[in-house]
Amino acid sequence: MSILQLQSSKNGLKGTIRVPGDKSISHRAIMFGAIANGVTTVLNFLNGDDCRSTIDCFRKLGVKIEETKNEIKIYGSGFDGLQEPKDILDVGNSGTTTRLILGLLAGRPFHSVVIGDNSIANRPMKRVTQPLKAMGAVIHGRDDANYTPISVNGGKLNPIEYLMPVASAQIKSSLLFAALQAEGETTIIQPVISRDHTERMIEQFGGNLLIEKDKIKIRGNQHLQAAKVNVPGDISSAAYFMVAAAIVDNSEVIIENVGLNPTRTGIIDVLKKMGANIHIKYDSHDENDNNEPFGTVKVSTSNLNGIEIGGELIPRLIDEIPIIALLATQAEGKTVIRDAEELKVKETNRIDTVVNELKTLGANIEATSDGMIIYGKSQLNGGQGNSHGDHRIGMMLSIASLITSSTVHLKGAKAIDVSYPNFYDHLHSLIAK
Ligand code: S3P
Repeated sequence: MSILQLQSSKNGLKGTIRVPGDKSISHRAIMFGAIANGVTTVLNFLNGDDCRSTIDCFRKLGVKIEETKNEIKIYGSGFDGLQEPKDILDVGNSGTTTRLILGLLAGRPFHSVVIGDNSIANRPMKRVTQPLKAMGAVIHGRDDANYTPISVNGGKLNPIEYLMPVASAQIKSSLLFAALQAEGETTIIQPVISRDHTERMIEQFGGNLLIEKDKIKIRGNQHLQAAKVNVPGDISSAAYFMVAAAIVDNSEVIIENVGLNPTRTGIIDVLKKMGANIHIKYDSHDENDNNEPFGTVKVSTSNLNGIEIGGELIPRLIDEIPIIALLATQAEGKTVIRDAEELKVKETNRIDTVVNELKTLGANIEATSDGMIIYGKSQLNGGQGNSHGDHRIGMMLSIASLITSSTVHLKGAKAIDVSYPNFYDHLHSLIAK
């Protein structure tokens, strides 16, 4: 692994950027394009490692996918157009690809095998394989189908009524892909509402579902039609530069075309509650937009105070917790993050990696059973940082280096390509201005 040296920034961050397309929406656009009838066009697709794994898996399932610089075309022939793959389906580092594709494969009358990298091999999959088995799919894998490699012999599925044990958009979406193929109506009950991109996309592709607060009812045997998906910028990527602008002196950063789906905007609520200088302007939709709100976010250097973060807010900012922890080191007083046990089963155990890496840089932070407590405001020092192969830890440490008293030597910066391949181009462009 190469080591990147990152220097602190004395002059502040200034400028306007457009972050790459949303990762969750990009994955789903490929998947819905593959199971719909007709040619789906995707604009502003996130060309990161995770979404490339999704393209690769669907090509192995026999779907024709054409790529040009500006758009992706997916030639779908409905669920029945998917073919038994001759090769294993390699999801790389992508949890979203793994869980969602398992739901889709559960209803397909053929055999397939899903594998991923070492991080994926340690992430729990029983949360989807168990309900999918209850619907009738034959699924095998290590530790009672909890870990990859996982094999699926799909086929006829029965509808279920399922109360999800954890608030997870990946579980919900996996079951929605299965339910679309089942014989009858499936009901999914969410303990807390999580990101709703799949629900929105089902409607965009001409499908039907009924959403009543925490309950989703969806009919099986649905036939979807191709659509045009214009992917907004990823708020989870924008979060790094929102936080950077708030904590680095003399900064003002404008981020355009950011996805502002209310199930994803927890980071904005947190910045506001901490007292940050943040302005949001919603843009209006044009004919290509896919039912996903978006707009411009402007953040400048801020005086911040510590806050408590927990409960229903957690799924709305789950991927932003590493960068929120850094933010909290620059807020006066105590910040408590609770109800976030899910962090333990992300690309790394993000309670451990965040706490250990920020401690190395001199932060006053401690792990709890379901989150962390951070005491600010502290001057961070430089030192050795390690992404541990987790893109969000790599980006958090890179932003931390902007305010450290000496250089941060970052190991494993390559992991950032998973979700934000031009992260350093944007960082350098904002420093240069
Ligand atoms: C995702 C859902 C979240 C999130 C992940 C992407 C999705 O996971 O952490 O990065 O695209 O559905 P969970 O829903 O499992 O919490």
